[in-house]
Parts: sequence; C-alpha cells; structure tokens
Amino acid sequence: MSSGSRITPGPPAKRQRVTLTKLAEKKALGEPIVMVTAYDYPSAQVAEEAGVDVVLVGDSGAMTVLGYPSTVPVTIDEMLMLCSAVRRGLTTPLLVGDLPFASYEASNEQAVMTAQRFIKEAGCDAVKLERGGSSVERARAIVDSGIPVMGHVGLTPQTATALGGYRSQGRTAERALEVARDALALEQAGCFSIVFEAVPTPFMEAVHERLEVPVIGIGAGPATDGQVLVFHDLLGIFDGHAARFVKRYANIRQAMIDGVAAFADDVRHRRYPEEEHGYTMAPDEAERLRGLLEHDTSDREPFSGDW
Ligand code: KIV
Repeated sequence: MSSGSRITPGPPAKRQRVTLTKLAEKKALGEPIVMVTAYDYPSAQVAEEAGVDVVLVGDSGAMTVLGYPSTVPVTIDEMLMLCSAVRRGLTTPLLVGDLPFASYEASNEQAVMTAQRFIKEAGCDAVKLERGGSSVERARAIVDSGIPVMGHVGLTPQTATALGGYRSQGRTAERALEVARDALALEQAGCFSIVFEAVPTPFMEAVHERLEVPVIGIGAGPATDGQVLVFHDLLGIFDGHAARFVKRYANIRQAMIDGVAAFADDVRHRRYPEEEHGYTMAPDEAERLRGLLEHDTSDREPFSGDW
C-alpha cells in the first residue's frame, strides 16, 4: 500500500452489532479481532467509524484523560461517567467497561454489584477484570449473574507494584506457567475472552492454542486472535511514557498543539474572526439600534459611586 493511500471503513449503518458469538466466530475463522480503548463521545465515534470490533473503556483512562499517575485512583463513578459517554457514541462494537481497582476484589457480592452498575447505569455489554487468583472466583460470580466478563493477565497495571513495576511478565518458565494457569482458570470460570499484556511472543505461541476463547494481545506478539491498543497511544495524543509495544499511527497531540497555537496567534494578531465568522444585521436595524442605545444611555442614572 502506498504511504498516501487511505483505508476507508464500510459505512457503519451496514455493520451488524458485534456480539460474543461474533467474536468466537472470528476466532474460529482466523479473522483478527480489533479492539481499542475509548473514553468519551468523540473517541467512541472514531472507533465506530473506523470499524473496530471491541471498544474497551479502560481504566487507562485514569491516566490518559483524568491525569492520575496510575490506574489505581480512578473511582467507579468516574469510570461510569466515561463508559456512559462512550455508550452514547457507539452502536456497533462490543462495549467493555474496565472494573477499577478496589471495586471487585473484596467479595463476590462487591464484584457482582459493581459489574451490574456498569451494565445498568453505563450501558456496557461486558466488563473486564484483572489477574488470576481471587479474581477467578469474582469472574465466575459475575458470569453467573449473567454479565459477560473479559479477563486480563500478564502485566496487570492495577497490581503493578506487586509485580515489580510496569514490566513484562512470564519471562521465566515458572512465571510463564503462572500466567498461563491464570488464563486457563479465567477461561474455565466463563470469561468470553482474555487480554494478555506484555508477555513474550514465544510464551503466547505456546499458550494460544490451549485457550478456546479469543485471546487479545497488547505487547503479546502476533500469536493471538486480536490486538488492542490504547487510543491515546496509537494516535499520539498522550505524551507520557510509551511502552515498547505501542505503535504510533498518528501524532494528534502535535496537531492539536499546532491548531490551538495557530488560533492564539490569529487572535493576538487580530486575524480572527474574519467577516465570514460573524453574523449580519440589516443596516436599518443596526441604525435603529444605535438610536435606541443613545436614548438608553442618556436615560441612565448617573453613577452614584456607592458600591
Ligand atoms: O485499561 C486499559 O486500557 C487496558 C488495556 C491495556 C487492555 O486494560
């Protein structure tokens, strides 16, 4: 493809809503699944029009749109607000809401109640949670309550401190086995799909064939059923540290800075607004207004100076 060519997605109206069955079919047919994150109405509309399959309102929004230093501080209510905005901009892709840190770990009851809020209040189709261990039981409880769950293993940012920081996981055979067991347990608990983050390519090649549900990779190499990237990373909106697996497809942040700087320059040099940006008024109305204002100001009470 030449560097100047454009990829034009099909008109959104002709696409069918993406369901869990559709994702399983894609895996069976070997058709890659495309997933991106989104956090608001315009990013959801972009994902819709670009024709992606799954949109995740990731808790990465804590950093990309809310300015927190990690995913840990974001609250359920903040996530619900982001999910609701995305829901309003989305029709076709499956919408997955990320359960934030400390919203599901304490008990199965807590996990189900939080997941229900994502479905009922924000209109999500499914939820995602991180880790194996006790999260497997939480995932099972949420699935049993009728809500589809996506798992997330490997580098799990909500518990990055316990993992020794934001670093790839499964680089020794023992740790790799733990990650594989977490994924298999989540699948057995009923998760419809599993995200693998920052794991070695040979690990994924060995584990992919053992999983029946769609595997979505982020920094997991090509042996997956689909790929996910964070919207702000792939479009170059976020200027924080970019992980090794991020590929930038645009530099929107610079385009935004250039646009706002050009506006500021135009205002400061009185180049904006031009005639075409203003509203017109019939000359006789303008004349009449001048008369009215003159009358109005001559009637005004003199300033008393009494504040
Ligand atoms: O929060 C997020 O954006 C995620 C993706 C990286 C999978 O969990």
